Amino acid sequence: MKALVYQGNHAKAWERMRDPTMQRDSDAIIQIDTATICGTDTHILEGGVSLVQPGTILGHEGTGTVIEVGSATTRIKPGDRVICKCVASCGKCSFCRQGNFGMCSDPEGGWMLGGKAHGVQAEYARIPYADTSLIKIPEPLTSEQVVYLSDIMVTGFEVGILRARVQPGETVVVIGAGPIGLSTMAVARLYSPARLIAVEPSESRRRIAAKYADMAVTPENAQATVDEATGGVGADVAIEAVGKAATFEQCCQLVRVGGRVANIGLHSHPVTLHMEELWIKGISITMGIPDHRTGQVLLDAILKGTIDPTLLTTHRFRMDEIIDAYEVFSKPAESGAVKVLLTADSTIGPRH
Ligand SMILES: NC(=O)c1ccc[n+]([C@@H]2O[C@H](COP(=O)([O-])OP(=O)(O)OC[C@H]3O[C@@H](n4cnc5c(N)ncnc54)[C@H](O)[C@@H]3O)[C@@H](O)[C@H]2O)c1
Ligand SMILES: [Zn+2]
Ligand SMILES: [Zn+2]
Repeated sequence: MKALVYQGNHAKAWERMRDPTMQRDSDAIIQIDTATICGTDTHILEGGVSLVQPGTILGHEGTGTVIEVGSATTRIKPGDRVICKCVASCGKCSFCRQGNFGMCSDPEGGWMLGGKAHGVQAEYARIPYADTSLIKIPEPLTSEQVVYLSDIMVTGFEVGILRARVQPGETVVVIGAGPIGLSTMAVARLYSPARLIAVEPSESRRRIAAKYADMAVTPENAQATVDEATGGVGADVAIEAVGKAATFEQCCQLVRVGGRVANIGLHSHPVTLHMEELWIKGISITMGIPDHRTGQVLLDAILKGTIDPTLLTTHRFRMDEIIDAYEVFSKPAESGAVKVLLTADSTIGPRH
């Protein structure tokens, strides 16, 4: 098969690799039909993720059709159309039993695809713990409608909206309108906030944010917008979806007394917590990674039409054009890219 392989030293290639084979009786092999690129893939290429070894096939967001399952797999069957969760989970360790599937401590659990193991930017992929690591796609939905449930939509929902305990009628601010921030805005609708305010410096991203949020403003205008919208009280919830000290601090400024800040961003540098101002404000701060418990809830919302993830797709490529797709995705200021959708060439023959 062909696959996108990380070669180390900023290099990647679309090259021939051996077809994946079953290694455990809980595995499945799937034929990929859509995949997409995540900011984490570009971090890997920049050499920023030491866990990922050169020679690894990248990609942790994808959908496909199951072509083979092991004898221990009972829920997933050949022929099923499935979404790959970005984290695999054994379903049996202490973390999995508590519902923290993302923290699965099994050697084949946690971030496997395009991380510890080969990923889904390929024609075929091996999925460990298929029963717990794949979500079946209901018949009427297309792969494009659900592929963002592999990672970004679930992250926005679980680490943003659910941890912040968003309530109906609240004022919610999302700082950052990249794929994660936009996904968070899309799923915020499930909790009917009175006002959803997006904060983003890029004009092209503000335009996309305006499809999901009630208002999309620059960072400089965020405080005045929130003050005006809330009569000076502050936002009930501020969600950080950038990963910078300044945006985290702005979240703490924008929330009301007793408000909630949910941090999603990955921070590479220390952040100042302004306790000299916050000690009396009584705010709550949450952070973390997704548990991947809510895929089914979001599937139902997509099925009903409450959420339309396809608004995130700005560019489309065939899988074998993936090098061009990386080029477009890694330069959003020039290309306007949010998510690039990669679709398998339907002329791929049977495996051999
Ligand atoms: N917690 C998790 O499990 C998890 C999972 C995935 C991604 N992340 C992190 O979430 C963050 C967002 O991911 P992404 O893929 O959307 O990244 P991205 O870089 O594509 O988007 C970030 C957005 O923030 C905007 N931005 C920059 N400075 C800003 C400012 N001062 N105010 C407002 N917006 C500003 C940028 O213009 C960009 O649109 C990253 O830090 C990523 O590593 C965390
Ligand atoms: Zn990702
Ligand atoms: Zn586990």
